[in-house]
Amino acid sequence: MYVCDFIRFIEEFAPKELAIEGDNVGLQVGDNLEKELNRIGIALDPSLHVIKKAKDFEVDVLFTHHPLLKDPIRNFTGVIYKKLKILMEDDIILYSAHTNLDVCKNGLNDALSSLYGLKDVEYLYDNGLGRVGLFEGSFEDFLKITKTFLHKNPVVVKSRDVDENFKLAVLSGYGLSQSAVKYVSEKADVYLSGDLTHHSKILAEELGLVVIDATHYSTEVYGLKKIKDMLIDKLGVEVISLDF
Ligand SMILES: [Fe+2]
Repeated sequence: MYVCDFIRFIEEFAPKELAIEGDNVGLQVGDNLEKELNRIGIALDPSLHVIKKAKDFEVDVLFTHHPLLKDPIRNFTGVIYKKLKILMEDDIILYSAHTNLDVCKNGLNDALSSLYGLKDVEYLYDNGLGRVGLFEGSFEDFLKITKTFLHKNPVVVKSRDVDENFKLAVLSGYGLSQSAVKYVSEKADVYLSGDLTHHSKILAEELGLVVIDATHYSTEVYGLKKIKDMLIDKLGVEVISLDF
């Protein structure tokens, strides 16, 4: 298998066209796509720590969810220089599938939806981000699943009592902005995502939306673990986790 075969596979699984406008997805660093692929490193973030580990483990491809850079930069100095130096000197191909991996079939949002066994599932947003559906069970059942599979100690904003069998919205990563809380309060009873701020918590209480922050990291790593297993199964190459 070559690097280009991996890229072809991942772009069929999570087409780049699914990414939200302005997102930075696809090949981030690298040129030699005809290189043989024996080992993939998978991570949530292309942090300096992860890139150093990728070098130590001699991975051919570093596959991350978050891209190397979100905003355009004009200078390659400091940490970004250090990252590029390692990647280029060791010829590590960096490839990211971000919002396209959140949105796609069997991607990170579908992973959360299946975890809770949601019924009558729909996209939370028209662009494919998030899922909303019926959770069959009590709020305690829901919390038990969350604590077992996502985060031992999630932040729970219990704005009101929740009846058995409720509308649950899930969104992997950063989903708890004030505008998101307002939007979801009209679509669901309970909303699970990450990155809750003080102001969003207050707004959720005012709107009567029950919010669970199971962290940006845990709501995304849950699905990434499934992607890792799928890559091992389908590609037959070694895949090692570098930050989960
Ligand atoms: Fe994220």
